[in-house]
Formats: sequence, C-alpha cells, structure tokens
Amino acid sequence: MIYDKFAENYDKAFAPFEKWFLSGWHKETLSYLPENAKILEIGAGTGANFRFYPKCKYAVASEISFAMLEFAKGKTDFIKLIQTDAEILPFAENSFDAAFATLVFCSIPNPNRAFAELKRVVKENGKVILLEHVRPKGLLGYIFDFLSIFTVSLFEDYFNRRTTKIAENSGLEILQIKQKTFGIVNLIVCEVKK
Ligand SMILES: C[S@@+](CC[C@H](N)C(=O)[O-])C[C@H]1O[C@@H](n2cnc3c(N)ncnc32)[C@H](O)[C@@H]1O
Repeated sequence: MIYDKFAENYDKAFAPFEKWFLSGWHKETLSYLPENAKILEIGAGTGANFRFYPKCKYAVASEISFAMLEFAKGKTDFIKLIQTDAEILPFAENSFDAAFATLVFCSIPNPNRAFAELKRVVKENGKVILLEHVRPKGLLGYIFDFLSIFTVSLFEDYFNRRTTKIAENSGLEILQIKQKTFGIVNLIVCEVKK
C-alpha cells in the first residue's frame, strides 16, 4: 500500500494546499452531511476532515493504510477509527445515514466494488458525498489519460477516473455536481437508491 510510505510526510506535503484551497473544499464537502446522524468516512487518511465533521450520533472513519491511521489517531477523540478496505466494509446493511470520501476514489483499485459497499451500508435515500479529482472533459481529458499511465505506476492514482459515471452505474443517484478547477475536481452529491 503506497500510502504506508507517504504517511510520514503526507500532512507536511499537503499543508500548503490545505491552507490555500483544500481545507475550504473539505469543509464544503462535509457541509452536505446531515446532523445528528450516523456517518461513515472512507479513505480518511491522516484525518484532514475530522475538524469539519458535523454533530453526529456516531461517526466512523475508515482507512486502508495502518500508517495513515497512526497519524489520524491523535486528531480526534469522538470518531471511531477502523482499518479496512473500502471494497470490503465490515458493517451490516443500512448501518449509516450518510457516507463520504475526499480524494479517495482515484486510488481505489475497484471503485465499482467500493460503491456497491457504500450502497449496502448506507440507508435508502442516504447521502454519499464525494470530493474527487476526475477525468475532465475535452482535450484536458486526453492529457489526463496520458498522465494516468505514470500516476498509476508511481502513486497508484488513476488520474482519468470517471468517478461520477461509475457512481451512477453502481446505482447511486447523482443529485448535484459542483465542478472545481476546470472540472478536474468535482464535488459530487449522490443519494442511495436500493
Ligand atoms: C489522497 S489520500 C486522501 C486522504 C483524505 N481523505 C484527505 O482528503 O486528506 C487517499 C487515501 O485513500 C486511501 N485509500 C486508498 N485505497 C483505499 C481503499 N481501497 N480503501 C480505503 N482507503 C483507501 C489511502 O490509503 C489514502 O489515505
């Protein structure tokens, strides 16, 4: 898992971007979550979103990399942290009112499986909120196809992922797409339909 290697320097490397625009995007993404609900985060990383969680009935932050979770540990005392693959979530059906992920679906090997899992563990009509870099439209898309050859082998990161389409094909209803930076990053609001 490549993020085991990145973990130690992840916060330091992302700090300028967090300051510049990322924390604003994280905050905006989590503002779509319901209050006093059961919330699941997947790919929580080192916990960049923890300070923006709404008031929750309970909250679970899941992450595949043990090393990333080690850095997340010190940042919360109310969110339950769990090491798991988003493709095999260890929760019963309909355990959550809503789920979210920020900058995660680009690195999940089988996003269809992860969406199927989200659909299983989130209740009917529950929200799934995503902030993801995706394959942009037009010429940029072809550039991202080319870049992806390198990003996949270097960082296990699919630069040309059509995350909205994959979510839709997995049976989620797309309610809203907010494009950022020429459509390279999208805030995608989905709803679970069983
Ligand atoms: C770019 S980081 C984003 C971390 C955090 N969400 C944020 O916004 O700062 C991507 C994260 O997704 C996690 N990840 C990748 N594949 C995963 C999978 N199959 N299941 C769960 N987490 C995964 C990585 O370990 C990493 O922590």
